[in-house]
Amino acid sequence: MNNLKFQTYPHRPVLLKEVIENLAPKKDEIYLDGTFGAGGYSQAILESAACQLYAIDRDESAEKFAEKLTKKFGENFIFLRGKFSDSQKLLAEKNVAKLDGMVFDIGVSSMQFDDKSRGFSFDSDAKLDMRMDQKNSLSAFEVVNEASEEELARIIKEFGEEPKAKKIAKKIITKRAEKPITTCRELADIVRSFYFGYFKTDPATKTFQALRIFVNQELDELKGALASSVTLLKKGGRLIVVSFHSLEDQIVKNFLKKESGADQVVSRYQPEIQQGNSVKNFHVITKSAISPTEEEIAANPRARSARMRVAIRI
Ligand SMILES: C[S@@+](CC[C@H](N)C(=O)[O-])C[C@H]1O[C@@H](n2cnc3c(N)ncnc32)[C@H](O)[C@@H]1O
Repeated sequence: MNNLKFQTYPHRPVLLKEVIENLAPKKDEIYLDGTFGAGGYSQAILESAACQLYAIDRDESAEKFAEKLTKKFGENFIFLRGKFSDSQKLLAEKNVAKLDGMVFDIGVSSMQFDDKSRGFSFDSDAKLDMRMDQKNSLSAFEVVNEASEEELARIIKEFGEEPKAKKIAKKIITKRAEKPITTCRELADIVRSFYFGYFKTDPATKTFQALRIFVNQELDELKGALASSVTLLKKGGRLIVVSFHSLEDQIVKNFLKKESGADQVVSRYQPEIQQGNSVKNFHVITKSAISPTEEEIAANPRARSARMRVAIRI
């Protein structure tokens, strides 16, 4: 896979070579790219074989990239705007009930992060927003200015794993009593006020991650997408998930453990007593998650935390 041609892409696809090798697209097979973004995976899939590809994204800004692929690949490519947890419904509307492969590249795209007006990035004077779907009524601004102190502390702790969550929540409440916390920078400065000295990663990262996950219901979305793969994939169909932090990777890992029957515990003394899932729906290909090579990380530092897991529907 020639990565050079993606240098002009606004989002550089992560683990692309590994995704295509594991999906192994074949002529006339049907695939879903559940996180279209700028279409890096979709384009590579369609260039690999004369297959049928459906692509989903909930972000309006993905549509202009989808138009380019429609021009290039015609009827072999169909874009569906929506949530990937609704894959089954969106595909059913196109009379598709079964797939040969599903690919998910979970998280934010570079376009979303780099477009300061989207309110994802902490060094920006844009309004706090962080919605991937512009039709969603709840943005980070409402959460920061309306949630209770306990709720804020819970969100920041649970989805950001931020050790100072309680202190940050308390300060948000004090600050917003003076005036609403409007910009990304105002929130980032509240978090940074609890950290002193030099940090390789901005101390606001965890709080911003937490709010983004909460606003976009990212973990529930991922669980929904994984659950739909059991129904949507044909026998032999491939499931590939690339995720970027441990909360997501843990969900994928646990799902595959359960669906491959690896969570089954048999009592040593009473073998007839078994706990866990006795139904095996997947064979797991990646015993440990695949990470990007050092070469890929050097070329694209945003790839550094990526983890890929692959399983085959049985
Ligand atoms: C990391 S980017 C994907 C980049 C893509 N693989 C590429 O090569 O350009 C993730 C994309 O998934 C979309 N997304 C995230 N969660 C989603 C969900 N629950 N439903 C639909 N799209 C989602 C985001 O809007 C974003 O465009």
